Amino acid sequence: MGELPEELRRRPGKGADEIKAAYDDEEATEYDEMSWVKRRLAARPRRKQFGDVDGRVLDVACGTGRTFRYVPDTARLVGIDLSADMLARAREKATELGRDVELKQMDAQRLSFADDSFDTVVSSLSTCTFPDPLVALAEMGRVCRPDGEIRLLEHHKWQRWPFGELQERGADDEYHRVGCRLYDDPAAVVEESALRVEERRRWRVPPFTGVVATPP
Ligand SMILES: C[S@@+](CC[C@H](N)C(=O)[O-])C[C@H]1O[C@@H](n2cnc3c(N)ncnc32)[C@H](O)[C@@H]1O
Repeated sequence: MGELPEELRRRPGKGADEIKAAYDDEEATEYDEMSWVKRRLAARPRRKQFGDVDGRVLDVACGTGRTFRYVPDTARLVGIDLSADMLARAREKATELGRDVELKQMDAQRLSFADDSFDTVVSSLSTCTFPDPLVALAEMGRVCRPDGEIRLLEHHKWQRWPFGELQERGADDEYHRVGCRLYDDPAAVVEESALRVEERRRWRVPPFTGVVATPP
C-alpha cells in the first residue's frame, strides 16, 4: 500500500451516529442484494476464518448476519451492531437458519460485556468502518478470554490493473455513504493495535485479508 497518498491511506472515520443513520437507512434493505457470484466468492474466506470456532462466540458489527451460516451450530453465538435495522435483518437470517443467536444493539467501541467473556470474537468487513478501529480492536481483546482468538475478515485494496481501478470507482461513494475506508490496510491496522497477530491470510478474489489474533 506504500504508493498510496497518505490522505487516502488513513481517512478519518465517520462518527458512530452518522454510520448508524446510514445503515439504518437504505443500507439495511439493500445490503444483502448482492449478486450470487459475490456471495459465492466470499463463502470460501468466511468458511476458512469462522468455520472452526466454538464455545461462546461474539460477532462484532454482525450487520445482517452474513457470517452466521459459517459459524458451527455448536457455538453459542452473540451478535452486536450499531444499527437496529441491520439487526432486524440479522434476526430474520438467524430464524431462516434455525439458529438461536443473541442479538444486541451496541457500539463496538464500548462493549457492555465483561472481560474475558467470549471464547472467540469474530468480525467481518468492519474495521474499515469503525470510527476508531484501534478502540474497537482493544474492546475485542478485552472481552476475549486470554487463551481465545480474535478472527477478522476484511477487504483490502486491489493493487493490480484493471481491478484496482475498477474498485476505486466505488471507493469514494462508499466512504461518503457509510464511512468505509477502502484504502486502509487491514493487516496494518491490526498490527498497530494491542492484539497479537498470530496468522494472516490473503485472498486475491475476492480481495480479502484474514487475521487471526490473540488478546494482548
Ligand atoms: C460493511 S457492514 C459488515 C456487516 C457484516 N459483518 C458482514 O460481514 O456483512 C459494517 C457493519 O458495521 C456496523 N458498525 C459500524 N460501526 C460500528 C460500531 N461502532 N459498533 C457496532 N457496529 C458498527 C454497521 O452498522 C454495519 O452493520
